[in-house]
Amino acid sequence: MENILSYDEMVVMKKTGAFAARILAQVKKIMKPGTSTKDVETFFDKTLKEYPHMYAAFKGYNNYPSSLCVSVNEEIIHGIPSAQRVLKAGDLVSVDLGIKHQGLFVDTAYTYAIGIPTPLARKLINVCKNALGEAVKRVKIGARIGDIGSTVQTFVEKHGFSVIRNFVGHGIGRVLHCYPEVPNFGEKNTGEILREGMVLAIEPMISSGSYEVEILSDGWTAKTKDNSLSCHFEHTVAVTKRGAWVLTQ
Ligand code: MF3
Ligand code: CO
Ligand code: CO
Repeated sequence: MENILSYDEMVVMKKTGAFAARILAQVKKIMKPGTSTKDVETFFDKTLKEYPHMYAAFKGYNNYPSSLCVSVNEEIIHGIPSAQRVLKAGDLVSVDLGIKHQGLFVDTAYTYAIGIPTPLARKLINVCKNALGEAVKRVKIGARIGDIGSTVQTFVEKHGFSVIRNFVGHGIGRVLHCYPEVPNFGEKNTGEILREGMVLAIEPMISSGSYEVEILSDGWTAKTKDNSLSCHFEHTVAVTKRGAWVLTQ
């Protein structure tokens, strides 16, 4: 299976994942009012150029035209960077990037506020980030995929937000996406059993309104149908004897 990996392979992914996390931290610094979403891609491309064996995993994937995804406010995921899309104070921006190195993939996303977030945006960010944290705590040998989904769903709904259904997390490793799907909703004690060496991308996508989605005419950008605010965090996580090993931090 493409997402059952050896310890040595996990070590490679951890290096790549730590690099991805550093890039996301730098992205936070460059995103200010006036920065375009294309500037974020340009920064990513420039950074990768200095590391000859690190590749943008999304570029060309299913014909996706860019090296990363930048999704603003009501956009949930798969926002295509554009020089015309200029960030302004108060925007909520998710940046999702994948890197391939030595034949192995990592995938990670973070949502940032530009300037001072509204109380709603701040709460949405905290709930989504903590939902991912709670999900990661459930990762251990013998746990099940449904334990992850039900944990995210319960946590998010308890705080009055909704979980996007149309998109899910996934297995990852020798390919960017593979079995099993990792939904952010569901029932505990159901679904695939987590095995030692399994690597998963866990990625809660939530909204402050309804979970219904709409795809923009660019064929990629997924947004909330009711234009409610959306948020997305993602980590690539390995199942080990000692529990979850978060490879992208
Ligand atoms: N990064 C997305 C995910 O988290 C997938 C991006 S697909 C692409 O699974 F086509 F946009 F690259
Ligand atoms: Co991603
Ligand atoms: Co993913």
